[in-house]
Amino acid sequence: MRSVVCLAALAMVALAPALSGARAEEASVEHGKYLVEHVARCPECHTPRTESGELDRSRWMKGATLMALPIISPRDAYRKSPDLSSTSPLWSRWGEDGVERFLQTARNPRGNHADPPMPTYTLNAEDAQAIVAYLRTLP
Ligand code: HEC
Repeated sequence: MRSVVCLAALAMVALAPALSGARAEEASVEHGKYLVEHVARCPECHTPRTESGELDRSRWMKGATLMALPIISPRDAYRKSPDLSSTSPLWSRWGEDGVERFLQTARNPRGNHADPPMPTYTLNAEDAQAIVAYLRTLP
């Protein structure tokens, strides 16, 4: 009996690294999706809207033009938020590391903050990595 348990334990130890890599990645993407859609609500600003004002699911996180009050200057009458899906030029310009660091420090690779209304996030590494993992899965 004890040897069966031992063998089972050994098999689990042997399989664990292979399985945990894929599972960890899956868990991270799920966590990122949750943070993006339900906590930070990035799509509210980074997804264009349909004529009826709904978020356009077919252009999820493709970047949008945001309306704002032109109180500060006419330039602020609208703002564009960038594409954050897998087709975004940010991935080649900043790399995944650059985007992760931006979400942790609120500073882009040039050391600048983004303009409002982009929030200044100071997320922990795990959350920033999960968000990037999720964004990279978007068509
Ligand atoms: C309230 C609206 C809003 C929300 C919510 C929002 N963003 Fe943004 N984001 C913007 C705008 C507007 C810009 C463009 C700012 C600029 O041009 O400097 C931007 C820019 C960015 C940039 C590029 C920054 C740069 O310096 O070029 C990244 C990356 C980004 N957002 C990621 C995210 C992620 C990830 C989330 C959710 C965790 C998120 N944003 C939530 C409005 C928003």
